[in-house]
Amino acid sequence: DITADEQRRLIAFARELKTDRYTRPLLGGPPPAVPDGIDSRLLATPRSVAVIFEKESTRTRMSFQVGITELGGNAVLFDAQSSHLARGESIEDTARVLSRYVDAIVIRTFADARIAALAGASSVPVVNALTDGYHPCQLLADLMTITEEFGAVAGRTIAFVGDTGNNMGHSYLLAGALAGAHVRLAGPDLHPPAGDVLRSATELAAAHGGSVSVTTDPIAAIDGADVVATDTWLSMGQDNRESRMAALAPYRLDERLLANAAEHAIVLHCLPAHRGEEITDEVMDGPQSRVFEQAENRLHTQKALLAWLITDALPPLEEVPT
Ligand code: CP
Ligand code: NVA
Repeated sequence: DITADEQRRLIAFARELKTDRYTRPLLGGPPPAVPDGIDSRLLATPRSVAVIFEKESTRTRMSFQVGITELGGNAVLFDAQSSHLARGESIEDTARVLSRYVDAIVIRTFADARIAALAGASSVPVVNALTDGYHPCQLLADLMTITEEFGAVAGRTIAFVGDTGNNMGHSYLLAGALAGAHVRLAGPDLHPPAGDVLRSATELAAAHGGSVSVTTDPIAAIDGADVVATDTWLSMGQDNRESRMAALAPYRLDERLLANAAEHAIVLHCLPAHRGEEITDEVMDGPQSRVFEQAENRLHTQKALLAWLITDALPPLEEVPT
């Protein structure tokens, strides 16, 4: 839902937060009378953020909780199974209640219609922490990692190989196009990206100087690319493991496939990796891999995102390095 300018400002803000990790915009104002000699920040009330999981998570859970704490806020994490969501309370009623307690709601869930219903009934901002269709927070971290490496995302070629018709493939298309990158997806015909996502990404790319393409040929997609990314072949909630493994085998990111990219290319993977399936040990642990920097950048980008949504703190566009 963000604009291209907001995306650039967010990444610049995340880079500021990476170097100055302890600014605390989510610590609310102090109570009216602060006794002499008392640091007012000690008396300030933290803003709260609800972080809800309906699917498993390691990085998203940790990075939101740690990030909100570092911002001076209060993270309230819960799994749907331990709440009334698991007993049938509607997502809309949950949104109405949580909006009375917290300043933002972060949720990882299944259907995109479910997060849309939550957002429709919520009076506070709602952040998508992964759905079946999208993983936008991951893309903020990925674009930040690319910016750190190359100075900017615009004009760079990003190849995503593997399960293209899924949350990561879709978010690479949309976020990459918004950033003005040339996004090339390669995967089996069996799992192509959704037509409406591809159409939106094509329009975004045209408006921002990039391009998008989809092929079944991994070498064509990777040829000369600056960034090569992949993701698991069996996402949370998916089955038919055997047929997926067979269809996706030609897209395994190994040294031979990576050799088609530019010499300076970096490798990204949102993690968790299934070593030996979509990526080999040599590539994961090799000199071109930036996967752990990328995982760290989840923390900084999500801090920037929440600080923006809750306190409106974002550097002005003219201060963002081009
Ligand atoms: N990349 C990512 O979202 O990881 P988790 O599933 O561990 O949160
Ligand atoms: N596509 C993967 C991403 C995990 C972060 C999944 O949805 O399981």
